[in-house]
Amino acid sequence: MLNRHLIDLADSSVEDWNEITRLAGDIAKHPGYYSSACHGKILATLFYEPSTRTQMSFQTAMLKLGGSVIGFDDPNNSSVAKGESLKDTIRVVSGYADIIAMRHPSAGSAKAASLYSRVPIINAGDGGHLHPTQTLTDLVTLRGEKGRFDNLCIGLCGDLRNGRTVHSLIKAMCRFHGNRFILISTPHLRVPPYIIRIIEESGCPYKEVDSLAEAMPELDVLYMTRIQRERFLSAEEYLAQKGVYVLDKEKMALAKDDLIVLHPLPRVDEISVDVDDDPRMKFFEQTEYGLYARMALILKMLEDEKYIDPQPKDQGHSCSNPRCITRQEFYIPRVFRKVGDHEICDYCEE
Ligand code: NCD
Repeated sequence: MLNRHLIDLADSSVEDWNEITRLAGDIAKHPGYYSSACHGKILATLFYEPSTRTQMSFQTAMLKLGGSVIGFDDPNNSSVAKGESLKDTIRVVSGYADIIAMRHPSAGSAKAASLYSRVPIINAGDGGHLHPTQTLTDLVTLRGEKGRFDNLCIGLCGDLRNGRTVHSLIKAMCRFHGNRFILISTPHLRVPPYIIRIIEESGCPYKEVDSLAEAMPELDVLYMTRIQRERFLSAEEYLAQKGVYVLDKEKMALAKDDLIVLHPLPRVDEISVDVDDDPRMKFFEQTEYGLYARMALILKMLEDEKYIDPQPKDQGHSCSNPRCITRQEFYIPRVFRKVGDHEICDYCEE
């Protein structure tokens, strides 16, 4: 069974993922059968950060299941602009809606929200940390386009440091046999150390490289990502990284015939429009798979009853990550867990 909240896909089992991806496949084939499965239910979409696909696919998913949608897509149009805390917003909205999909700029914000919600919280992106429903989308895409989750050489390219889709996807793909990773980025944009530790613990081989062209011939899956402008501390820092990787015809000529290219979108300049008609480009199909993934997820999560999580005890010291939600909203109990010799924050994992 899935947990009550979806904060990190790695909190649930591979069987759960298989069940959701299979259900997504069934919904795609027989949408009419599910068209009133959520009749009378309400989804709230609370988007504190911009979004096109994630927000609209969640809303479309609920509407196609026969339910209704409330929410905001700009916190400046809500009481957040008047200084309302995350805790208060969540307590109120969880009295109106049956399920909440939330996107927020701080790492660990979805986990913090789950402490105060009476209904399931879905993490629709928490800062540069995680994006579990994009990974469900990616899994449904892999199932449809590759027919498997294992024995894949997966290249991830671009902003691996700030790309939450990358972190969630690596955490998931580490759980399958025979996968290996080629992490393609500039030295400045490598994945965070906690992700490297997870790969190493899984035993999956990996390498960190600078050159996309050199990696191309080996790949079964290429996951391109945008340089996450909004996560950089200065414009100079962003400009130094912008435009370094561009997937174009020359690079595609080096790739296998059965490579698939994915991208969570939006694309900026990292995939040239010249290659859009190459049949190996699957990122628009991926957006449609995402709709079915979210329909399946909502259905599964609404099987559970309303409840409130027990509150964890505050452990008294602060997280060192300035982007962690516990550094923005001070009432949230600070919780850490031991991993080997390290202590990591339960919210942002730094
Ligand atoms: C991604 C995100 O928001 O993290 N987009 C998405 O949800 N499909 C990727 C991005 O913004 O670059």
